[in-house]
Amino acid sequence: MKFLISVTAACLSLVVASPSFAQDAQPDFTDKALIARGAAVATAGDCAACHRAVEPSGPQYVGGYEIASPLGAIVAPNITPSKSAGIGDWSFADFDRAMRKGKRRDGANLYPAMPYTDYQGVSTADMQALYAYFMHGVKPVDTKAPETHLPFPFGIRMLMTPWNWMFRSDKPFKATETLSTQAQRGQYLVETLGHCGSCHTPRNVLMAEKSGEALGGGDIGGWHAPNITSDPISGIGGWRQDELVAYLRDGRAPGKGVAAGGMAEAVEHSLQHLPDADLEAIAAYLKASDPIRNPDEKRPAFAWTQARPIKLAAYEPGNGTDEASYADSSTTDGAFLYAGACASCHGRDGKGTKDHFYPPLVGSVTTGAVNPANLIMTILGGVDRKSGVGHAFMPAFADQMSDAQVAAVANHVLQRFGRSQTSVTATMVATARAGGPEPLLLKLMPWLMGLAALALAVVAYVSIRKSSGRKSRVG
Ligand code: HEC
Ligand code: HEC
Ligand code: HEC
Repeated sequence: MKFLISVTAACLSLVVASPSFAQDAQPDFTDKALIARGAAVATAGDCAACHRAVEPSGPQYVGGYEIASPLGAIVAPNITPSKSAGIGDWSFADFDRAMRKGKRRDGANLYPAMPYTDYQGVSTADMQALYAYFMHGVKPVDTKAPETHLPFPFGIRMLMTPWNWMFRSDKPFKATETLSTQAQRGQYLVETLGHCGSCHTPRNVLMAEKSGEALGGGDIGGWHAPNITSDPISGIGGWRQDELVAYLRDGRAPGKGVAAGGMAEAVEHSLQHLPDADLEAIAAYLKASDPIRNPDEKRPAFAWTQARPIKLAAYEPGNGTDEASYADSSTTDGAFLYAGACASCHGRDGKGTKDHFYPPLVGSVTTGAVNPANLIMTILGGVDRKSGVGHAFMPAFADQMSDAQVAAVANHVLQRFGRSQTSVTATMVATARAGGPEPLLLKLMPWLMGLAALALAVVAYVSIRKSSGRKSRVG
């Protein structure tokens, strides 16, 4: 009895003591300087890119925006401090668990469309600042974002539990000791808040980042996020430090390439707002990262600098014998299409304008790549990116050109200005339009489901046999 009482007392004292202990260790979340630091951490983490309203002009962090995943659309929730629609009544522990372990407040798993496997390594100080900002620096908005409904069986959030066992680590971030202090800061930003690997690292069959191939190049919604390791041929080893910094800050590095697609968003919402010291640190880390080489690549993508233009004058209305092609909007003559749709900005010779406002198509990572994904996606989707150096805008041609036409103009560009061994087919364009190749997981799904059904049938058969066997013995 005495023992029981003392245990109860000990438990009680623990219950009473632990919250105050936890609070002691926590900062004052209403502190102005902490909130301001949290705003900067949120920028580095690019929370706004996903947790935005459907309308780009909508309130910040209100959610509702659908993130296209190969398994279906995943809706980003409202993370404003609204108590009814957002995370207003979350404790720091709830927030920390969502960010690092991928758990909702009710304990259900989040889908890794929320990059918690990367945020896992965020420092405690940064996480506290982030929480202070979301609780006290963001305006609460009481609009709930719609629920996510993925097709069966992916709608079962419990499926993520074994996935987390396999692919989520609890290890705190640890910088590589041999790196300079500057590169270590860059490594922290790249591997945690910047979640660069969520696009730039290839994924395995179960769609987890392949740990041995960090930053080796990944596919994302039709785009290819290139290899950004230090390899001089397949990666960014041939980029100067200042070119990398310019690319991250402005979205363009003359003589290398421009940022479109998801990279344009990362530049617009996050990277251009980082302090220069952080951009320098990221560049320093990329240049010091472990190189990964693709054996198919023999020279850097930006090193195809020889233009081989044809005389486009012959293709201009009134000059040529082929005027009929102009009356036919379905022409699949790449030279015609280039003269009509591209030359006005990129030049007949593909050299763009001197100031690179209209960039050259020679000596560009997009036209010199082995993988033409980004060339196709740029033609389909155009470029729309605002940064300190202005508004980069190229119209999207998805609605104006058929798959065969996009392929024809892409091949003209490759033949004349880029890596002529790369080629594009109408089927590749159709796949890109549909959001990129299906991941293996989805391709295997009918097969896996068949296997699961078979396993269920066997279990059912065995248990029926067992129970009917028992019955007959009893009866
Ligand atoms: C690449 C897109 C993406 C980025 C970047 C991102 N999130 Fe998320 N986040 C999501 C998605 C999608 C979900 C919901 C996933 C689900 O439904 O399983 C989510 C869920 C959450 C949740 C859980 C909310 C709830 O109601 O359960 C919190 C909290 C959160 N994110 C905070 C953040 C913060 C803070 C940042 C920036 C440091 C951030 N997220 C960056 C996509 C993103
Ligand atoms: C949402 C996906 C996404 C995220 C997150 C992302 N990138 Fe990218 N990145 C891309 C895509 C797609 C491209 C190709 C863009 C193009 O060619 O228009 C790219 C291109 C680049 C390039 C140019 C490389 C080349 O050879 O063309 C660099 C450098 C780069 N990213 C660095 C980073 C860094 C550093 C981070 C993290 C701070 C990051 N990216 C985060 C998708 C992403
Ligand atoms: C109205 C002007 C305009 C037209 C027309 C136009 N573009 Fe562009 N293009 C741009 C701008 C602006 C950029 C992005 C510049 C930046 O990001 O700083 C761009 C970027 C590109 C890039 C990426 C270059 C790189 O280095 O990564 C490619 C490839 C490209 N355009 C191809 C085409 C093709 C092919 C056509 C015709 C089907 C075309 N463009 C039509 C203005 C145009």
